Amino acid sequence: MCGIVGYVGRSPAAPVLLDGLRRLEYRGYDSAGLAVMDGEGGFEVRKRSGRLARLCELLASRPVEGSCGISHTRWATHGEATDANAHPHLDAGGRLALVHNGVIENHQAIKRRLEGRGHVFWSQTDSEVLAHLVGETYDAGAATDPRERLAAALRESLRQVSGTYGVVAMHADAPGFLVGARLGSPLVVGLGKGENFLASDVGAVVSHTSSAIYLHDRDLVLLSEDGFTVERLDGAAASYEVSEVDFAPEDAERGDFPHFMLKEIFEQPVSIGNAFRGRLDEDHASAVLGGLGLTPRELRDVDRIVLCGCGTAAHAAMVGEYLIEHLARIPTEIEFASEFRYRNSPLDRHTLVFVLSQSGETIDTLAALREAQRKGHRVLGIVNTVGSTIARESDGGSYLYCGPEIGVAATKSFTSQVTVLALLALLLGRMRHLSVDEGRRFLTAVRELPAKVEQILAQSDAVAEIARKHLGALGMLFLGRQFNYPTALEGALKMKEISYIFASGHAAAELKHGIIALVSEDVPSVFVMPMDSVYEKNLSTVEEIRARKGPVVAVATEGSPEIEALAEDVIWIPETHECLTPLLASVPLQLLAYHFAVARGCDVDKPRNLAKSVTVE
Ligand code: M6R
Repeated sequence: MCGIVGYVGRSPAAPVLLDGLRRLEYRGYDSAGLAVMDGEGGFEVRKRSGRLARLCELLASRPVEGSCGISHTRWATHGEATDANAHPHLDAGGRLALVHNGVIENHQAIKRRLEGRGHVFWSQTDSEVLAHLVGETYDAGAATDPRERLAAALRESLRQVSGTYGVVAMHADAPGFLVGARLGSPLVVGLGKGENFLASDVGAVVSHTSSAIYLHDRDLVLLSEDGFTVERLDGAAASYEVSEVDFAPEDAERGDFPHFMLKEIFEQPVSIGNAFRGRLDEDHASAVLGGLGLTPRELRDVDRIVLCGCGTAAHAAMVGEYLIEHLARIPTEIEFASEFRYRNSPLDRHTLVFVLSQSGETIDTLAALREAQRKGHRVLGIVNTVGSTIARESDGGSYLYCGPEIGVAATKSFTSQVTVLALLALLLGRMRHLSVDEGRRFLTAVRELPAKVEQILAQSDAVAEIARKHLGALGMLFLGRQFNYPTALEGALKMKEISYIFASGHAAAELKHGIIALVSEDVPSVFVMPMDSVYEKNLSTVEEIRARKGPVVAVATEGSPEIEALAEDVIWIPETHECLTPLLASVPLQLLAYHFAVARGCDVDKPRNLAKSVTVE
């Protein structure tokens, strides 16, 4: 949430900052702004509410020049999306500029103290309070070197705040110099030749450098064009590693697709393949997940599994619960990370905890990980973003390797998470009750997934037609049973987050316990009903909906003639292993949500009120 980019070098700063903000806009798009040092002992600030395009327009009429600057794209927490609340924020004297991602929880108390000393605030943000505090501390500082003084002021100010921050500041007295720090919100240093960068996400700087340092919580970084220093906030020496970034700038481009979301939906044959490639153990009809770092004995000793995540990751975890219990017979629970972190969930020695996160930065998931670790548990991560905080803090795990996911609505990360969980279930199952034959059958079905997803994608135009037919819907129900109950939840989430119509997911048989009251001609039911052990039961539920004039859009296995006669529309998926049906059935639901939202004129890549990576509580 919120994206930060800082640049210090020899090139004009504004284009570098804008390019970085463009790549980070998925983190928040309520407002954007930048401050650039003018080389004459001052800096220029430009900021605008709304999308980055509005800031670009402002800069076209009022350009800024200089080769050192900071910038920000905002997801509003404190204060509406106005010009005044946009970052950068300045201190009282207008000599310090600061951008911030996170929440300063004690900002009210600090603000009152500062107001008592004559400070006047122009915005409603917690971040402006931090800017004033750092500025005042700088003014009172003893160091004669302005760089040293700025670093000391930031360090001292951050000692007084509670909350989270990724923060970057610059001061007119210290040209060509940036100072940044992080706690709970990501900050990455990009290392170039004669230029250096700071960003919330390495994706912002990949077109300039592939060398990065992922800062740890409570690290402070001092940056100039020809050098950097990383220290701990308490002044101790910091340890850091320079990493090679694992993706090319074009991976994060839209290419010929009209939206990132559609591109990412269409990438799934490849991304699912990446999630299982090198992990299939043909000899033993099992899976290899070396990153877990557990011995066979430790894996056999596991008698309970807890899977934690938020949003789509939680839905993938729920599919994992069905898979692990079915294939490995190990009791498994899913917990929303936001609940787990504050709950005193009983975890015993043989409970294995997993956290799932595409971004690896979701604050609730990170807090859940830390809470379980604090209780002495080993916590494994199923994460996409290499070098992210969750990836670094987990005690092992598996990467998804699905490439950057930019669309705010998660798509390919869902199917990659489910694929990794399916392999985990197979691995654990083969150590327990699952026979070689069953293992082989499962492996064959996994290998066939990419080709089958291709077949589903070929129906995209037909799904668009169905979406347009139901454009007048007042709301939608998403129904499924067993492995596809979570698929239904995920389908409903996709629909509501990008099209803004009310949609809810349910276990299909729950319909008659209350939800059926919502069924009407204007409320279609999207029914995930592959040919599985509950297919017949699902047919009866479809009859019940049709008897009440509810339109049904079925997602069904090819060759299910009964459903063609019953449902108003059918989207066909190829036959697969029952456990893997969510991997196929989720794809048409993504397409349906996408086409529905596009037809309604919604901005599918940047849905209102949302941001891709939720780094505030
Ligand atoms: O990066 P994460 O996987 O931790 O993100 C978790 C959720 O915020 C995310 O899945 C969210 O629900 C998506 N917008 C859903 O499409």
